[in-house]
Amino acid sequence: MKFLLITDLDNTLVGDDHGTYTLNQKLLAKRDKLYLIYATGRSYSSALQLMNEKKLLEPDYWVTGVGTEIYYQGKRDTLWESHISDQWEPRVILNIAKYFKQLLPQSLQEQNPWKISFSLDYPENIGVIEKLRSKLNAHGAVYQLIFSSQKDIDIIPYKTNKGLAITYIRKFLQVPADLTLVCGDSGNDINLFEQLTIGTIVGNAQRELLDWYQNNYSSYIYLAHSSYAWGILDGLEYFQLLK
Ligand code: GLC
Ligand code: MG
Repeated sequence: MKFLLITDLDNTLVGDDHGTYTLNQKLLAKRDKLYLIYATGRSYSSALQLMNEKKLLEPDYWVTGVGTEIYYQGKRDTLWESHISDQWEPRVILNIAKYFKQLLPQSLQEQNPWKISFSLDYPENIGVIEKLRSKLNAHGAVYQLIFSSQKDIDIIPYKTNKGLAITYIRKFLQVPADLTLVCGDSGNDINLFEQLTIGTIVGNAQRELLDWYQNNYSSYIYLAHSSYAWGILDGLEYFQLLK
């Protein structure tokens, strides 16, 4: 039976080129024994660019835009699109968000019909997040707000995030949760670690993910000592997946 490796890109698989290369070599040697999924906050085009730049392996599936898009063999999964569109009203959210001058819209490339993304100067503007939530709630908006890397804010439909997207693919592939390893470093990876699979938090993880782990300790989640792709390698070894 194949195992399933799901990894975030920025500051997890990518961040130390030698680590990425070493991990790639190990995975290539076992390529027919595993499914590989990249789960990233980036848009699909920006993720492809990174793959070329950093010579990443071609994954079996892409989860991009924090779970708002799933790509398989270059095609977007339109079933997923309609599934996540339930109660999603981006116009309502945009209309409210524009009153908060501290929310700096990210580039157009990183926005999509199911993902509204801002950056925030942190920590001085941290209070804005709660104010934004209250206003959105008062207007009955149905959404999910994800804070990552102490600066990025993504507002996405309630029916998706990286974790929900990978569970949808995992079930389709029929890989058991205990043969599914998720790896990440920041806030938008928290939902990956909530799927009751095994997991590895890389050594260079961001505060928001470490805080979450402190409150959600599980023996299925391994806190790696090494950083970036070296941490993924640690996790693969710890759970004995590369045997
Ligand atoms: C990536 C995306 C950005 C998003 C962030 C956190 O950096 O490019 O749009 O806000 O991940 O999810
Ligand atoms: Mg990351």
